[in-house]
Amino acid sequence: MGSLNFGFNDTRGDKVEVSVLREPQISAVRAREVLDCRGLPTVQVDVVVDDVFLGRADVPAGRSRGRHEPVELRDGGRRFGGFGVRRAISSVKDVLAPALVGSPAAPQRLLDARLVELDGTPDRSRLGANALLGISLAAARAVAAASGQPLYRHLNADAHVLPVPQINLINGGKHASNDLDIQEFTIMPVGVSTFSDSLALSSEVNLVLHDILAKRYGKAAVNVGDEGGFAPPITEPTEALEQLHLAVEQAGYSDMVVYGLDCAASHFFDAERRVYVLAGKSQSREDLISFYESLAKNWGVVSFEDPLEEDDFEGFAELTRRLDAQIIGDDLLVTNRGRVAHAQTLGAGNALLLKVNQAGTLSEALEAARQAVQGGWSIVVSERSGETEDAFISDLVVALNAGQIKTGAPVRGERTAKYNRLLQIEEELGSAAVYAGLSYRRPC
Ligand code: PGA
Ligand code: ZN
Repeated sequence: MGSLNFGFNDTRGDKVEVSVLREPQISAVRAREVLDCRGLPTVQVDVVVDDVFLGRADVPAGRSRGRHEPVELRDGGRRFGGFGVRRAISSVKDVLAPALVGSPAAPQRLLDARLVELDGTPDRSRLGANALLGISLAAARAVAAASGQPLYRHLNADAHVLPVPQINLINGGKHASNDLDIQEFTIMPVGVSTFSDSLALSSEVNLVLHDILAKRYGKAAVNVGDEGGFAPPITEPTEALEQLHLAVEQAGYSDMVVYGLDCAASHFFDAERRVYVLAGKSQSREDLISFYESLAKNWGVVSFEDPLEEDDFEGFAELTRRLDAQIIGDDLLVTNRGRVAHAQTLGAGNALLLKVNQAGTLSEALEAARQAVQGGWSIVVSERSGETEDAFISDLVVALNAGQIKTGAPVRGERTAKYNRLLQIEEELGSAAVYAGLSYRRPC
């Protein structure tokens, strides 16, 4: 926070110097097209406050997107196969920057409200959710820089919980070129005592899994999917879980690990016939729920993300009643406070997957988080499959004391950037750092 200095003469004619604290002012907003980990363009924004403090942020992009997500502006046409973001860049340069330069960058809530107002549409289709989010995140970083604090502490003075990572070691669904319908098979190292130990464990398991898969399915099986997990030629979900279990066992960590799935079920739901087509077999909602019960019972799966299609609040409620497990809404909730509140009244799930680009601005993501916590839900802060080296979510997960992060396998720069940032934060916090471990299901 900067200060404003001015003076006046008091009644005796003596000069009085006054210094008033004021919010940092936006001096410049710039935007450019950069590449994400899939080689597709995305928006990068710089916000400069008080002339010298720079905040820079990249906007992530999903492939397994929910139907209710806000509109990300893409250019269409031939350039980059239609994925160009020059329209969003021009929203920043031609509309948002002129409106914002010279105004306060904080509080974040007011800045974000202004961004939403400037767009003026409920789905952000005029200026693009990717334009708004870039400014929102970059401004938070710039204000943190101006206050001389790391981002996580700027967002929450009491930030201290290091998350259990949901490490995505086997990829399927829209993230891989195999026939595995379930999108993510994750391990959660809950039985270690520090974040750095959880990462070492995960990396060791990943190396063992590499050898197991290569031996059993041939070397093409260790090609990786969008989030860095292996994409073996497996069809049955239980076979994938079996390989994962073998790797955990051979690495010597059976007692320390539990398992999670991101089913991303909308993507194997046949909306016309109202059936799920899993491993080539049509299944009713009831069949699928019984299948998940067996995975919880026999395979140690404790966390199910998007187990049913994205509008089936009722099915989510039924599953939440039947399973003693974490039931996470991703496409169901799209990090939207209203949808979280609705799900809570129905008992449809017990955890929010928090993705900043689904919310549209940082403040809206924080509102969804607040709603989750008020209803006693857990929060898993998440990346998108299309990421860059930007590690904003690592600071965010610690700021929220959320206790869980999902950011892919422990390989590839756009994934390791997040894990490495968490290692730095763990070191900075020193003895104040608490690894969420077995309390991962308890929010804040
Ligand atoms: P996406 O997938 O980023 O491709 O949408 C991630 C997820 O479904 O959690
Ligand atoms: Zn998901």
